[in-house]
Parts: sequence; C-alpha cells; structure tokens
Amino acid sequence: TDLSKIRNFSIIAHIDHGKSTLADRLIQATGGLTEREMSEQVLDNMDIERERGITIKAQTVRLNYTAKNGETYELSLMDTPGHVDFAYEVSRSLAACEGALLVVDAAQGVEAQTLANVYQSIEHDHEIVPVINKIDLPAAEPERVKEEIEEIIGIPATGPWQEGGAVLASAKTGEGIEDILEALVARIPPPTGDRDAPLKAMLVDSWYDPYLGVVILVRVIDGVLKKGLAIKFMQNGTQHLVDRVGCMRPKIEQLEELGPGEIGFITAQIKEVADTAVGDTITTVKNPAAKALPGYKEVQSVVFCGLFPADAADFEKLRESIAKLRLNDASFTFEMETSAALGQGFRAGFLGLLHLEIIQERLTREYDLDLITTAPSVVYKIHLSKGETIELHNPADMPDVTQIASIDEPWIKATIYVPDEYLGPILKLCQDRRGIQKQLTYVAGRAQIIYELPLNEVVFDFYDRLKSISRGYASFDYEPIGHREGDLVKMEIMVNGDPVDALSMIVNRDAAETRGRHMCERLKDLIPRHLFKIPIQAAIGGKIIARETIGAMRKDVTAKCYGGDISRKKKLLEKQKKGKAKMREYGNVSIPQEAFIAALKMG
Ligand code: GTP
Repeated sequence: TDLSKIRNFSIIAHIDHGKSTLADRLIQATGGLTEREMSEQVLDNMDIERERGITIKAQTVRLNYTAKNGETYELSLMDTPGHVDFAYEVSRSLAACEGALLVVDAAQGVEAQTLANVYQSIEHDHEIVPVINKIDLPAAEPERVKEEIEEIIGIPATGPWQEGGAVLASAKTGEGIEDILEALVARIPPPTGDRDAPLKAMLVDSWYDPYLGVVILVRVIDGVLKKGLAIKFMQNGTQHLVDRVGCMRPKIEQLEELGPGEIGFITAQIKEVADTAVGDTITTVKNPAAKALPGYKEVQSVVFCGLFPADAADFEKLRESIAKLRLNDASFTFEMETSAALGQGFRAGFLGLLHLEIIQERLTREYDLDLITTAPSVVYKIHLSKGETIELHNPADMPDVTQIASIDEPWIKATIYVPDEYLGPILKLCQDRRGIQKQLTYVAGRAQIIYELPLNEVVFDFYDRLKSISRGYASFDYEPIGHREGDLVKMEIMVNGDPVDALSMIVNRDAAETRGRHMCERLKDLIPRHLFKIPIQAAIGGKIIARETIGAMRKDVTAKCYGGDISRKKKLLEKQKKGKAKMREYGNVSIPQEAFIAALKMG
C-alpha cells in the first residue's frame, strides 16, 4: 500500500464515554459490517465466554474509506485498554499509531483517566483529534467540554473541526461520523518506513484463538512480513515460521503481505501467549535488523495475593482453571503456595488491583470456583543486614526482624480529579494514607490533585473510599514512581493464640496500632461464637498491640439446638452444614471466608 494513503490511529476515552459504540459506527460507515452483523458483534462483545478471539480481544480494525477528495484510504483503528493497570499495553498500542481520536462525553467532560492516556499520546507525538460524543443527550454541553479540552489538556478544540477544532458527534444517532473520518484523513499524518530495509515489526498484542492458535498483532516499521518467512523475536530470541498474514475488517482477511506502516496480524504456530512478549521486535532470521525497537519492558507484577479454593477438594480444579486463564493472559503469574490456615493454593501476581479483580471474577464466574483471596500485598525490597536485598511478595515469608537492615516500599504518583465540593474529605483521605501533596489546581469548578502515596496504602480500599466519598464523581489514575525506604513492620493476627498466616500483613509502624485494633474489631464481628472464649490479637514481633475477645456461646442456646422437634433440628443441621462450607477450620476455630478480605478493609 502507498504509505501516503495509510492512517493509523488509536481511540482514547474514559470508560463509558462511548468508545466501543463509536468504533462500531466507524466500521459500519466504512462498510466493514452490515447493520445486522453490527448488532451481532455487539452481542458477542458482551459474551466473553465465547472467546471469539479476534473481534473481541483485538479491537483493531482496518477500514477502507473513500474521502471527499476521491482518494481511498486504509485506516487502522486500534482500541486501547482503558485502565491504568494496562498502561504498558496502552503505550505499545499508541507507539503503533501516528494519531489518536480523543472521545469525550458531551455531558461528563474530561476525566482523569482520559488525561493519563492523552498525555501518553502526546508523548508519542500523536496528532490528536478531539471528538465530543453523545451530543444527542439533553445534558450535553459541547461548548463547555470544548473549552475544558483546551484548558485542561491544552490542545485546540473550540474552532470548527475543519480548522482543527473538536468534531461533534453522536455514536448513537450517527451524526458527525463522516466528519470524524474526514478529520482523521486530513489531520493524522501517514506513517513512514523503508520497504527495502531489514524487517522491523513491533509485537503490539497477542492472544489465543481456538482456531488459529496464538495470533500476534503487529505494526510493521520497516521491511515486509510475508507468509513462509522465518522470523525471530529479538527480545526472547525464539524463531518461528510465519504461516498466515492478514488483517481484521473486523472479519479476518488473509493478505499477501504487510508492508511498512501497516498494522495487521500474523500466526506462526506458536503454542502459548506466554511465548510472546508485548513490545518485542520481530525481524527476519536471514537479514535481521541491527537494533530492536525502543520502549520494550518486561511485564512486572505489582500486586500479589494468595488464591485458595474455599473447599480444599477444589484445588485441582483451581489449578486447571488458572492454567486455562493463563493461555489468554500471560500478564499474571502464579506459583504454588501452602498456607497453614488455608491449605494448598497459589500465590498470584497481577499488573494491578483491577487486573486482580478481573482474574478473581473470571475464576469465580467462568470456572465456578469458590475462592478465598488473601490480603493483596505489594512487592517490598528488604535489605538484609548481611548486605543482600530480597524481594518480598508474601508477608508470610518476611525474614526475622533481627536480619533486616531496612525495608523499601513502592510508591505511586496519583492523579485525582474531583468536583470542588468533595475536595476536603479527599485531601483528608490522601493525608491519612501517608500521602504527600504535590499539586492542587482548579479548572472549571473541579480540582486536580496530585499526590505521592505508598502503594501499600492504595491497594486495599483506596479506590472504593474515593468513589464513596465523592459519590462516584472522583476519577483516579496512578503510575509507579519507584521504591522508598519506609518504617515497616509485619503484623500478625492471632486467633485463639495461633497466628493466622493468611491474615498477616506489612504495615507502617505508626499506623500499626490503629490498623491492628481495627482488624481485631472487624474479626470479632466476623467470626461466630464458639463453645469457648476466643481471643483475637494483633502482634508485632511477638508484642501484642491490640486485643478483642469473642465470648463463648451461652449454654442455653446450644441446649435449645439439641432439644425441640426433630424437623427443626434437621433444618438447623442443614444450615450449619451450608455455613460450614464457607468456613475455614483454624485450630479449633472456624473463620468464615469473608473474614479474610473484609478484615483488611479499613472502613
Ligand atoms: P467501556 O467499553 O466500558 O470503556 O465503555 P465505552 O467507552 O466503550 O462506551 P460504550 O461504547 O460501551 O458506551 C457507553 C454507553 O454510552 C452505552 O450505554 C452506549 O449505548 C452509550 N452511548 C455511546 N455513544 C452514545 C451517544 O452518542 N449518545 C448516547 N445517548 N449514548 C451513547
């Protein structure tokens, strides 16, 4: 394809601002899908289970558009994941494009999430075309949103779209869709590249398709990708034979080749997604490129937690389910873990909390597993007195205090965007979580706050608290900024005198007492009464810092259970049995499943 006729762009939007609907409209307007297929596709999208790999996962579509100037262009539209946990994947998608459509809801305006992606897009030197979507809504305020885009993001938006302003559109009614296509062609620069240079293609994404095996989404920079070519992944060194080259429209279309500037897919008989690395450079075995593309990063888990079957008999099922999930998502890691309290399970690493929740939810829903998830933990760097440094993923593995010289914890830079009236309580929340305020600015009745926070203080319930304090109006985004030394200690929780490993956590020394007291109070409410008194204690290095006691069950209550008519007794036993399935025996105490997570929320 003639390079000057290619346009590669991504779509950036805040959740719910209409990205998918708009993408479907663009596909429909350029003839990629009929009205009927479009509604079918939307349906498929909702049904993750069906694993129609291509159209769902790679929301990358090639469109042919004949513009008003009579020329036909080849547009590649690339969807980007909309969450901070997937920032690296987003960065690779953006690196594969020359421009971006910034979709902003005409009633909601600019949100923090949008900002993070836009700034990344600007860093990639993208030409950004703002689109104000949902102008059909009665609450739409396109003029206000245009000004917001200029003020907050600093890109032109207020002029007519033909002169570089924002395009007004409704993905619902179809209004403005053609204007978007015209603006894309006119404003996004074509790619550059050298067809005769050694092959250099970026691995943008990969996924497992039940029919095709591992499918790799690529952006060719230089050279040509063809069927039958022996290729090499420069980062992991493996070699493969290309057996298919194509693009999605969004239906699969096989092509002869992918030339410079083009986005498309290849398959090469690769068995597992884990054998491919996002950001890797693909070159040829025969005439390899001298240097890999910049920007490659290895995937790193940020948050770890234990995953245990609620019923120990389900361990094998859990193992199989996790292995199946891994086929499609190589970005979480797992290894076997044995807990004294919970038995056999896995220690799993995730890109962030949302990623953790997605995997947890999929295991529960798609694989029908009852899970106990232990306290999420970040990765600490422990400097031992002997001079060695270890990475700690599990509080249970913390070395003895006498061997520790110092502990570093990960920090993040958080950007919060919130209407004025909720500012006070949000500042207090950040302050309570050991935050350091870096910036506070007001734009159009809203505050933008930048805080540095220890990740440890964010992983439990920060986001939930933020949302509830602001009645859902605050948006939140973060990026890691490295490790810093902290005054950290391991707090153990003892139930009836025995430490429960799944409840131990690493906390800031100053906050330990409050935290410990809170945990004990929560557990007191969560653990049912037994026939005997149960002390619940929080301890640091053997020293008790908080204590609660669950009183013994009163005699006459139990007496009643055993007396009375037989059917009532049966019912009671039935109930107890049901309750039991969700309990974990610990020593001679039963701890309900919810306790493991609920106790960690700070409320
Ligand atoms: P995520 O996939 O969750 O990131 O959301 P998204 O940004 O892809 O938004 P999506 O396309 O799913 O749209 C969100 C909601 O807004 C849906 O209920 C759409 O029907 C609705 N919507 C999208 N575009 C328009 C529009 O132009 N007008 C109106 N009134 N509603 C729209």
